[in-house]
Amino acid sequence: MLKRRVVTKQELDGILERLADEINRDLEGKDPVFVGVLKGAVYFFTALTQRLTRSVAVDFIQVSSYGASTSSSGMVTLIKDLTVDIAGKDVYVVEDIVDTGITLVDVLALIAARHPRSLKVVALLSKPSRRKREVPVDFVGMEIPDVFVVGFGLDFAEQFRNLPEIWEFAMEEGG
Ligand code: XMP
Ligand code: MG
Repeated sequence: MLKRRVVTKQELDGILERLADEINRDLEGKDPVFVGVLKGAVYFFTALTQRLTRSVAVDFIQVSSYGASTSSSGMVTLIKDLTVDIAGKDVYVVEDIVDTGITLVDVLALIAARHPRSLKVVALLSKPSRRKREVPVDFVGMEIPDVFVVGFGLDFAEQFRNLPEIWEFAMEEGG
C-alpha cells in the first residue's frame, strides 16, 4: 500500500531545477553523453535532460539487479548495452536511487571500461544509511531515510512507476 508521500510534485520541480542548474554549469567545455539506467531512471532522466540549456547526447543501459542479500560487486548482468560510442566523451550516469551502491559500482565499471574522458553520477534519491560500497555521487536530488519508495520511475514489482510523485510503499500487514 502507499503509505505517505515522500517527495511531492512541487518538491520534485525544485529538485529538478537545482540539479539542472548545477549540471548546466558543469557542462561547460564538455562533450556530454547522458546515460539513463533503465527502467527506474526514465522519468527522472527525461525531466532532467529537458531542463538542460544545451544539446546533449542521450543513451540508455539496463542491468539486472540481484537481491541485496546475494549481490556482490561485479555480478550485474548487462541486459541492454549502450549504442553510442562514449570513448573520449564526458558521461553523466543518471540513476533513480542509490541504495547499497552495489548496482552503481558495477554500472560505473562497465562504463569506465569504454574509456570515457570523464564520468559523473546524477541520482534523484540516495539512501546513505544503506550504503555498502563507497561510490561517488556527484549530483544528488534528495537524501531519504531507509524506506522503500515508489513512483516517478521507481517500482514495486513493476507497478507504480507512472505515479507523478514519490511515495513510501509498505506491504499490507497480515496480507
Ligand atoms: P543498490 O542497492 O545496488 O540498489 O544501490 C539500487 C537499485 O535498487 C532498487 N531500489 C529501489 N527501488 N524503491 C525502488 O523502487 C526503493 O526504495 C529502492 N531502493 C533500491 C532500484 O532499482 C535501484 O536502481
Ligand atoms: Mg533502478
